[in-house]
Amino acid sequence: VSSTFKLNNGNEIPVMALGSWDSRGDEAYQACLDALSSGYRHIDTAAYYENEALVGAAVRDCEIPREEIFVTSKMWYEDMVEGKQEAAFEKTLKGLGLEYVDMYLLHWPINDVKGSWKVLEKYYEQGLIKNIGVSNFRPKHLKQLEVTANIAPAVDQIEICPFLVQEETVNYCQEHDIVVEAWGPLGKGKQLSEPEIVAIAKKYNKTPAQIILRWHLQRGIVSLPKSVHKERIIQNADIFDFELSKEDMQIMMSMDLRESTGRGYPEQYEY
Ligand code: A2P
Repeated sequence: VSSTFKLNNGNEIPVMALGSWDSRGDEAYQACLDALSSGYRHIDTAAYYENEALVGAAVRDCEIPREEIFVTSKMWYEDMVEGKQEAAFEKTLKGLGLEYVDMYLLHWPINDVKGSWKVLEKYYEQGLIKNIGVSNFRPKHLKQLEVTANIAPAVDQIEICPFLVQEETVNYCQEHDIVVEAWGPLGKGKQLSEPEIVAIAKKYNKTPAQIILRWHLQRGIVSLPKSVHKERIIQNADIFDFELSKEDMQIMMSMDLRESTGRGYPEQYEY
């Protein structure tokens, strides 16, 4: 779980994170503790998820040295306007109760991307953010950002699952040395009973979730499966002892319906 990919600034990022969208209260706190005690070293949160305080508390309480844990949060798009960006970041840091975040992302390419990126660059230079990146950016958004950015984004976190393979954005990022992260990597849990995936799972004696997560890994993608159940959290990380064949990778690539779960995309989002 704590194996890593290298980012374009030389830093490392653990290949698997616990996702926390929709995790709340004691459940969110406990899920983070369970993940950290099961070997996860990367937790993904966002201001929008309203659980930064719980994630931060788990990171502080877990008795694993802070520098071994990779914490990601995100600036909500409504804060990506002049005058709000600094306050948004400071609120995140305070909410987490941490001295720095390992990764901070612009959550959506909406509002003032250019100015918001400058703010991220400032905090990156001050060491309060160890790596900066973006989320839900398509190649056209990345190209726009490139024009004014001094520092290239280290990652792009986008929705990816077998029904939404995202070949265009993944190829663009990988050609430009931007690590891709998958949110909703299990298709929000809805693709676990797809016959193709169930058949592959039987063949490798793994669960459908493990097959999907291994598929992301072999594409070179960081995945952030969300679960609040310890046995699933452990299961999702147990994907390092087998390898999908080229043929099986291909079968899964061909499941692409170009279909987003549609959940959570702001109305202002330009595809
Ligand atoms: P839960 O949190 O109740 O365990 P995604 O990461 O694509 O957003 O998917 C998250 C959804 O998939 C959640 O509803 C989560 O439920 C469920 N889930 C996560 N891991 C597994 C697993 N190994 N087996 C079955 N369902 C899972």
